[in-house]
Amino acid sequence: MINQHPDFKDDPTAPIGVFDSGVGGLSVYLHLKALMPNEHFIYHADTANVPYGDKLGDEILFLTLKAVSQLCQRGCKLIVIACNSASAYALNAVRERCSVPIVGLVPAVKPACHLTHTQKIAVLATQATLNAELLNDVIDDVATPQGIVVYKHFEPMLVPWVENGMPIDSQVVHLLIKQTKQWADMGVDVIVLGCTHYPFFKGFLSSYLQKENLAVHLIDSGLAVAQRVKSLLDLFHMASSTPNTTPMQLYATHLDDDLIATAKKLSGESFIEIIGHHKT
Ligand code: DGL
Repeated sequence: MINQHPDFKDDPTAPIGVFDSGVGGLSVYLHLKALMPNEHFIYHADTANVPYGDKLGDEILFLTLKAVSQLCQRGCKLIVIACNSASAYALNAVRERCSVPIVGLVPAVKPACHLTHTQKIAVLATQATLNAELLNDVIDDVATPQGIVVYKHFEPMLVPWVENGMPIDSQVVHLLIKQTKQWADMGVDVIVLGCTHYPFFKGFLSSYLQKENLAVHLIDSGLAVAQRVKSLLDLFHMASSTPNTTPMQLYATHLDDDLIATAKKLSGESFIEIIGHHKT
């Protein structure tokens, strides 16, 4: 059993833990913070092991258990696994072992099925997420019975590109546009961004779709996850009622100045407190 730090038991001012392999989970953090400004957040990035998306399920499970256990030890009252790949392989195991509520995520296939008019949707995600039962069960239970065709694609360069701050001159930009155009030509009208790193290029991709007059929606799970977290905190009377005065705290298994700069840029925070390292 992974227990929460005893000092924080039942303390509504205790932090919310957010975990991802890298900076991708910050796309979820943005929704969490917007919806729950009173809350204090600890962000755990396993940057020594990013990307998770091409790892085997057992390794993802091991790394996720380790990260969640650290967040519990830091006294988090609730933990968000802000990573589709980690949720796919570790959500059940973490829930069985953890004494605090755990919220994970799955690519937004259900809402995509409600939105589509062409009965064709696409999921852009990591190989690990695309192979996992968690996603394929949703496709089998929701998309297939309605006759909705689901195209899946993994582009290994996307996560490293986001981790590197998304340089616009990268060849990844061309690959992304080529894939989007191909799906649009095939009649896909909803693209699910099934990795938490991807909402960071949603704006860029939306501008491309608008410019080309392509009627394709881009959706992700970030807002739904934040709403779920809020409803759980309300349900357990664990929401903080006092304004948060602590900056977002970042712990990374590999920390350097580039990571801090990217985390600041993506989170919109001018000051992030670095924890668990000598460097400040
Ligand atoms: N952002 C994560 C996800 O949602 C992990 C990406 C990776 O590390 O490959 O799957």
